[in-house]
Amino acid sequence: MPRRSEPPARAAAARPGPVRLRRLRRTPALRDWIAETDAEVRRLVYPIFVRPGRGGPAPVRSMPGIHRYAVRDLGPLAGELASEGIRSVLLFGAGRSKDAEGSDAWSPDGVVPSAVRAIHRAAPGLVIATDVCLCAYTTHGHCGVVRRGVVLNDPTLERLGRVAIAHARAGADIVAPSAMMDGQVARIRETLDRSGHAETAILAYASKHASAFYGPFREAEQSAPAFGDRRTYQLDPRNAREALREIEADVTEGADIVMVKPALTSLDLLARARLRYDVPLAAFQVSGEYAMLKAAGARGVVDERAAVEETLVALRRAGADLTVTYFARDVARWAREAP
Ligand code: PBG
Ligand code: ZN
Repeated sequence: MPRRSEPPARAAAARPGPVRLRRLRRTPALRDWIAETDAEVRRLVYPIFVRPGRGGPAPVRSMPGIHRYAVRDLGPLAGELASEGIRSVLLFGAGRSKDAEGSDAWSPDGVVPSAVRAIHRAAPGLVIATDVCLCAYTTHGHCGVVRRGVVLNDPTLERLGRVAIAHARAGADIVAPSAMMDGQVARIRETLDRSGHAETAILAYASKHASAFYGPFREAEQSAPAFGDRRTYQLDPRNAREALREIEADVTEGADIVMVKPALTSLDLLARARLRYDVPLAAFQVSGEYAMLKAAGARGVVDERAAVEETLVALRRAGADLTVTYFARDVARWAREAP
C-alpha cells in the first residue's frame, strides 16, 4: 500500500515557531539556572602596592579605595583579605632607593621579599604572586637596563632572574615578569630551576600593550619613564597577531599562566588564546580601567556594581580563568551583601 502524504495538520506542527529564547529568561531562578559565567571571587587576584618605609596607608589619588601599604601593615591587611574570601594577591614593590640599575629590586630585604614573608606569616593560605620588573626601582623609570638612551634586552634578563630568585626565596608562590623583554620567561624559568625553585610558578605578562590605561599605576608607583615611552618593549595596541606571537613565545618558554592586559581592550586575544592554548589564562583589569569605572560610578553615570560585574563576566566569556582586579575586595563585599 502506498503511504499517504503527510496530513497537513502534522506538517504545520513540525514547522518550528520562532526560537523563543525568552522562555528561560522569565524568572531570576531560570536565569541563574542557565547562567554560563559568574564574577567569582575565587578567580580574582587583588593587587597590592607596597611602599618603602613605615608610613601608614597612603591613598592613591586617582584610585579611590586603593592605598600603598608599608610592610608592617600587610600582616593585618592579609588577614582581612583572607577573611573576606580573597584567595590571591599580586604584589608591586618600589625601590627604597632608586639607581640606574634598579638594584634594590633584587635585595633580599627589599619591600617585596619582606612583604611576602609578612603576608605568608599572617595568611598562610593566600596565594602570593609578585610583579617582576625594574621600573619602580630605576631612576629612569624604564623596565630594563638603559645604555645611551636604549633599553637593552639581554642585560635586563640577568637582572630579572635575580629579582625572581629574591622573590622565590622569600616564599612567593608565583613570579610575574612584566618587563616585556624577549626571552624573560625562559630565563627566569632556568634561573629558578637552577637555584632550587622548580616549584615556583610563572605568571607571564604575555600580551602587554603600551597603553594609556596604566597612568594611575604609574602615579602610585612613581614609575613613569623619565624619557621616551615604553613602545620599544610593550606591544603596539594596533596589533593582535603580534600579541598572539608573544603569548606563543611565553607558553613555549614555560609560562604556567599567561596574562593579557589591559583587560577590556584584549577580549579578542583572550578568545583566540582560549582556542589555541590549554594553559590557564589571566586578564589584568588595570589601574586606568579601575579609575574609569570608579569615576563613572561616583558620578552616577553608571551603577558601579553592575558595571564592574559586567566587565568581569565579559572577561570570563572571552576565556579568562583568572582576573587581576583592584575591584576584588568590592566584588567580595557585594557578594556578601546581596549575592
Ligand atoms: C610595570 C607594570 C605596569 C603595570 C603592571 N606592571 C605599568 C607599566 O608598564 O607602566 C600596569 C598595571 C596597572 O596599570 O594597573 N612593568
Ligand atoms: Zn616595568
